[in-house]
Amino acid sequence: MLNFDYKNPTRIVFGKGQVTNLGSIIKENRGTRVLLHFGGGSIKKNGVYDAVKKSLVKAKLEVFELGGVQPNPRLSLVRQGIKLVRDKKIDFILAVGGGSVIDSAKGIGVGVPYSGDVWDFYIDKAKPSVSLPVGTVLTLPAAGSESSFSSVLTNDDGHFKRFLDNDLIYPVFSILDPAYTFSLPPYQTACGASDMLVHVTERYFTRTQNVELIDRLSESVIKTIIHNAPIALADPKNYEARAQIMWSGAIAHNNLLSTGRVGDWSSHMIEHELSAINDVAHGAGLAVLVPNWMKYVYKQDVKRFVQFAVRVFGVDNNFFNPEETALKGIAALRNFFTSIGMPSTLSAIGIKEAQFQGIAKKTKKFDPKKETVGNFQPLAPKDIVEILKLAK
Ligand code: NZQ
Ligand code: ZN
Repeated sequence: MLNFDYKNPTRIVFGKGQVTNLGSIIKENRGTRVLLHFGGGSIKKNGVYDAVKKSLVKAKLEVFELGGVQPNPRLSLVRQGIKLVRDKKIDFILAVGGGSVIDSAKGIGVGVPYSGDVWDFYIDKAKPSVSLPVGTVLTLPAAGSESSFSSVLTNDDGHFKRFLDNDLIYPVFSILDPAYTFSLPPYQTACGASDMLVHVTERYFTRTQNVELIDRLSESVIKTIIHNAPIALADPKNYEARAQIMWSGAIAHNNLLSTGRVGDWSSHMIEHELSAINDVAHGAGLAVLVPNWMKYVYKQDVKRFVQFAVRVFGVDNNFFNPEETALKGIAALRNFFTSIGMPSTLSAIGIKEAQFQGIAKKTKKFDPKKETVGNFQPLAPKDIVEILKLAK
C-alpha cells in the first residue's frame, strides 16, 4: 500500500425531504445571493425545482437563475455564467441536476475570481487559486461530481472535452434525495450505474500491491450497483434501491477507493473523446470501452482479473487456467452492461472506424513525452486504436 493523505470535505446530506434544509445550509456557508444553475428542464417536470425554490425563498435568499446546461456541458455556458455571477455580485452557486450541471457550476466557481479565460484551467495553462462555493442538489447518481474534485467541460470550439482536478472544487455540500431520481429514464439510470461502476474499476485495476481493504470495499460497491440497478430499472420508484445506487455513486468517486493505490483512468480519457465528438452519454461510452480495455490489458496482471471474476461475479475459479477465469469475469461484466440496456459496440453509439486514429491522437495523455495514457498498462495511440478496433 502507498502512503496517502486523504480528505473529502464535501458534506453529504442524504435522504428523503432533505431539501427543506437547503436554504439554511447555504446560509451556514455564507451564501446570500445564489445562482440556481440547472439543465434542460427535468427539474421543472419532476417537482425538484419547486422544492428547491421553496427552501431558498423561505431562507430569504436572493436567487438568480441560469438553466440550459447540456449533457457534456459546454464551455460557452460556463463563460455566460461567469459574466452573470460577476454582474449580479452572486456569492454562492447552487447546481441542481446531474454531473453536467455540477461540472458547469464548478467551472463558473473557479472562473469568476480569475482574470484570464476559465478554459486555461482545463488545459493545464493555469491553476485556480480560489473558487466561489458550490453546493449541489443531485438528481442523477452517475458522475460522482457531487463529492469529487473534478469538473469536465467540452469546448464548443473543436470539441475538446477536458477535465480540471483540484481540491478547491469539491462542493461544500451535496443534498442526495433518492426520491429525486425516480423520474430518471431507464437509459440514464443505466448510464449512471455504468459510470459509477467504472469509477470503481478504474481504481481497482492497479499495479499497486497489498491493497486488500480497498479491494474488498471496491468489490462491495460494485456488487451493490449490480444488485440494485436492475431493481431500479424494473421498479423506478423503489426508494431503497435508488438509495443504494445513489450512495454507491458518491462513494465510487469520492476518492476513498483511491487511497493507497494508483488507478488507471485510460478508459475515462478515451471515452471523453467519444463524448466530445458525438455527444455520447458518458456511461454508455464506458460500457462499450471497458470490457474491451480489459481484454487488451488483462495479461499485465491475470491474478487481479481472476480476483475480480471470482469475488464480484462468483466465477468458478479454474486453478489450472487462470486466464480462462479472468476472461469469464470480463464476459460477465459485458453481460451485466448489456442486461441493463447499455450498448456494446462503438457503431451502436455512432462512432466509425475512420475516426479511431483521430480519437487516439486527441486522447489526453498522462505522459506527454511518451504519449501514453493510463497506469495499469500505459497505452500509446496505437494501443488505443487496437482497443477501439476490439470495440467496433
Ligand atoms: O438537463 P436535464 O433536463 O436536467 O436532463 C438530464 C440530462 O438530459 C437528465 N436528468 C438528470 N436528472 C434527471 C434527469 N432526467 C429525469 N429525472 C432526473 N432526476 O439526464 C441527462 C443526463 O444528465 P448529465 O448531467 O449529463 O449526466 P451525468 O450525471 O451522467 O453527467 C455526465 C457528465 O459528467 C462528467 C461526464 O464526462 C459528463 O460530461 N463526469 C464528471 C465527473 C466529475 N466531475 O467528477 C467524473 C465522471 O467520470 C464524468 O467524466
Ligand atoms: Zn465517469
